[in-house]
Amino acid sequence: MRQSGRGRVPTPASPPAPADPQRAASVRAIAEQLAGIRGPLLPILHEVVAAHGYVHDDDVVVVADVLNLSRADVHGAVTFYHDFRRTPPPAHRVALCRGEACQARGAETVHAVAADRWSGSADVEVGEVFCLGLCAVGPAGTVDGTLHAGLTPQRLDAATSGWSP
Ligand code: FES
Repeated sequence: MRQSGRGRVPTPASPPAPADPQRAASVRAIAEQLAGIRGPLLPILHEVVAAHGYVHDDDVVVVADVLNLSRADVHGAVTFYHDFRRTPPPAHRVALCRGEACQARGAETVHAVAADRWSGSADVEVGEVFCLGLCAVGPAGTVDGTLHAGLTPQRLDAATSGWSP
């Protein structure tokens, strides 16, 4: 039987060079700082999002390298949880509760108004959450991270005044 490569074990390919070395260094520092804790992957990804706004594909490579995981393992965690954005965040974000209690209090109307107002906007993202613990005073949501209860289209207007449509 003939073996190719004269019996040498191929060395794994080195990771591709990151597009932004400064960001890669920052992500590596975050990963190395948290690598020793129990279950470090999710805390590292949260810190990357806090520091850089989202998880870039290059960040996946760096985190996988530091934790000695496959890129598929890290990519799987990033894509499984909605908290880990994969694109730069917009300037503003509205997240409206679509939970049943809020639906019963008119959340669908507020969501429809918001989705219509900012559809196609690069500056505003309309998202959804499922229960913010404000069920009795819904519809609830967040506007740039600030909790709002009793949302109506008019209250949403007031909370987002100055935003371009
Ligand atoms: S269902 Fe909307 S806050 Fe609970």
